[in-house]
Amino acid sequence: MVKRSARFVCQNCGASTARWAGRCDGCGEWNTIVEEVDGLATGSGGVGAGPRATSGRRGRVFPLVSLEGDAKEAPRIVSGMAELDRVTGGGFVRGSAILVGGDPGIGKSTLLIQAAAILAKRGHSVVYVSGEEAIGQVRLRAERLGLSGAPVKLAAETSVEDILATLSAGPPPALVVIDSIQTLWTELADSAPGTVTQVRTAVQALIRYSKATGATVVLVGHVTKDGQIAGPRVVEHMVDAVLYFEGDGAHQYRLLRSVKNRFGATDEIGVFEMTSLGLQEVSNPSELFLGDRDGRSPGAAVFAGMEGSRPLLVEIQALVAPTSLGTPRRSVVGWDGSRLSMILAVLEAHCGLRFGQHDVYLNVAGGMRIQEPAADLAVAAALVSSLSGVPLAIDSVYFGEVGLSGAIRPVPRADQRLKEAERLGFRGAVLPAGGSSDGASRTACGLELSEIDVLAGLVARIASRSDGTVKSIREAGRRDR
Ligand code: TYD
Ligand code: MG
Repeated sequence: MVKRSARFVCQNCGASTARWAGRCDGCGEWNTIVEEVDGLATGSGGVGAGPRATSGRRGRVFPLVSLEGDAKEAPRIVSGMAELDRVTGGGFVRGSAILVGGDPGIGKSTLLIQAAAILAKRGHSVVYVSGEEAIGQVRLRAERLGLSGAPVKLAAETSVEDILATLSAGPPPALVVIDSIQTLWTELADSAPGTVTQVRTAVQALIRYSKATGATVVLVGHVTKDGQIAGPRVVEHMVDAVLYFEGDGAHQYRLLRSVKNRFGATDEIGVFEMTSLGLQEVSNPSELFLGDRDGRSPGAAVFAGMEGSRPLLVEIQALVAPTSLGTPRRSVVGWDGSRLSMILAVLEAHCGLRFGQHDVYLNVAGGMRIQEPAADLAVAAALVSSLSGVPLAIDSVYFGEVGLSGAIRPVPRADQRLKEAERLGFRGAVLPAGGSSDGASRTACGLELSEIDVLAGLVARIASRSDGTVKSIREAGRRDR
């Protein structure tokens, strides 16, 4: 007999305890523990854990096989939206479950109704289940986007049992979109909709359906303000791919980023622009992030970066200004604050520059977020340029990792970065000496390459642009006081 037990589950990380506590031992969050009655006394997660896991039947013996043998490339449904297909690794894999997370209002429903409509128009059978919006609202949006002619099968439902019964009544569709997992509820678990146990049990049931029938299930999940998919981080472990849809209110474009993908590379991004006609693909994002540049103002450097397999040029802007505060301000948007402190420390220790009496602001243009250490050199160039008041060459790009010793280290895929810069009309590049860190040799390119091996070389280069000397830049750090 299935034993019903009450337990206390953290709504943030999913850890469960036998007693209530104010603070979760698992993740340290306060007030996240809620009592949940669980039908599955041993249902500790995992796709296979179902009601039968507690029936006490004897296990079946299955054959163990070798790594070698028949393996087929996963069959995919290509959506035809190039940016979406890039992020999924070449299309939705049949029988896989994909979680699409993002802030409320970012455009998840818009993206998925567009993808659903395109696939339906291409002859795939597509079901869109909305738990958040009424049918009328979804229809209104589809009409506004010019998609109402697409043969998408639409429903507004939240009961997992009803959804599965409806899906199982006919031949399995190619794609099922569930918008969103937080609204689902299942009778298998007694707790309230939106709780970890509910969401986990509902998602398990949907994943079982997708594995059994080969239908691709796309689950929409909201993200809390600290950036996690609301409540059930456990869901991230259960699905095959996790995509985040991000962007900020001030900008029109949105990034779809893959953070987990069992069938493709992670770190891929797809770029979209939100317009009055829905999401449009941006196939040439570098142009978007470069902004208006005039080459006269100091403090701007173009970083030749990589996002997944795609090169992306972005402008890095620095403002170094005399401070009126006792402790100077360090403010970063779009990059890592501790990495900025490191670059400032290296510039001080190995190049003799002084930032101690200056506020430093760093911004990545267009609201882009950069994680690559390869941006170090571009950041350093922007900082030195702003400190000295010397504008950098408008037609040069920068990339390279800065070590604590002041050495400039090679980074991967130098070739691709240079090609993208050349394609966009740049003439020069400042880069680490000695090729690419992935061992790829550099092929000839039309750019004028300036290889530098220490950060002091960069400072000397910038000083030479103003007929100045490194000493005059050092002085810049002391004047105004
Ligand atoms: P939505 O897809 O509902 O977001 P989510 O499902 O992630 O909560 O997107 C809502 C926002 O998108 C809303 O603020 C309006 C905007 N939007 C447009 O700008 N153009 C459009 O064509 C559509 C459909 C939405
Ligand atoms: Mg929505």
